[in-house]
Amino acid sequence: MEIDVFTLFPEAFGWFERQRHVANALAAGHHLGYVNYRDHTPLSAGQVDDTPFGGGAGMVLRVDVVEAALHARYGRDPVELGETRRVIALTPGGRLLDDALVDELAGEEALTLLSGRYEGFDQRIIEHFATDEVSIGRYVLAGGELAAMVLADAVLRKLPGALGHPDSALEESFSDALGGAPEYPHYTRPAEYRGWRVPEVLLSGHHARIREWRLQQSAARGPLS
Ligand SMILES: C[S@@+](CC[C@H](N)C(=O)[O-])C[C@H]1O[C@@H](n2cnc3c(N)ncnc32)[C@H](O)[C@@H]1O
Repeated sequence: MEIDVFTLFPEAFGWFERQRHVANALAAGHHLGYVNYRDHTPLSAGQVDDTPFGGGAGMVLRVDVVEAALHARYGRDPVELGETRRVIALTPGGRLLDDALVDELAGEEALTLLSGRYEGFDQRIIEHFATDEVSIGRYVLAGGELAAMVLADAVLRKLPGALGHPDSALEESFSDALGGAPEYPHYTRPAEYRGWRVPEVLLSGHHARIREWRLQQSAARGPLS
């Protein structure tokens, strides 16, 4: 998969790229690239935003700047880009990112993530260049970089080779294996700590009973609304 992140702060992704599953995915041939809007602005002062028509606080990311950045990266009119790749504008009011959407996106060959800043995007960017609007939650962050990392993190860990153990992503919270419910509880050594005992079934070595207990625990926790 090829993921391109359009951002004013590509340096924010340094830590992200060093995370084990991200590094694994990149080593396996997946690609994570960055385009700084500012590097492609057609405006002489290096400007990327402007004041909102109609007045109001804050600055709005300009449509001509985003078009120039998309055109520089893909060499074609960004209006046509949606024919070959999902172009996702990260917005607080977009479709909520959940496991089903992550699965859907993990099946794509290529994703473009548009991070906003300030007051957000000129609406024409969303209407004419983006195929999707995605939100990571009903709250407002200062910028789309964290949202892009959240989306890329969730998608990349679904790709073969990203996780240390290939089964890790098969049976976890919200997966089909658990009927969409949250995962069952985990315990490790010590088996007793301050009088808090690990459930006896997990110490029994009886795999069928452990499996049954885990599925019951998971079902009792969900599904979440
Ligand atoms: C300060 S926010 C703009 C908020 C916008 N004025 C509003 O009220 O919806 C700046 C940028 O951060 C990103 N952002 C903030 N919260 C987000 C969220 N919950 N999900 C996805 N992106 C978010 C978006 O890219 C947005 O353009």
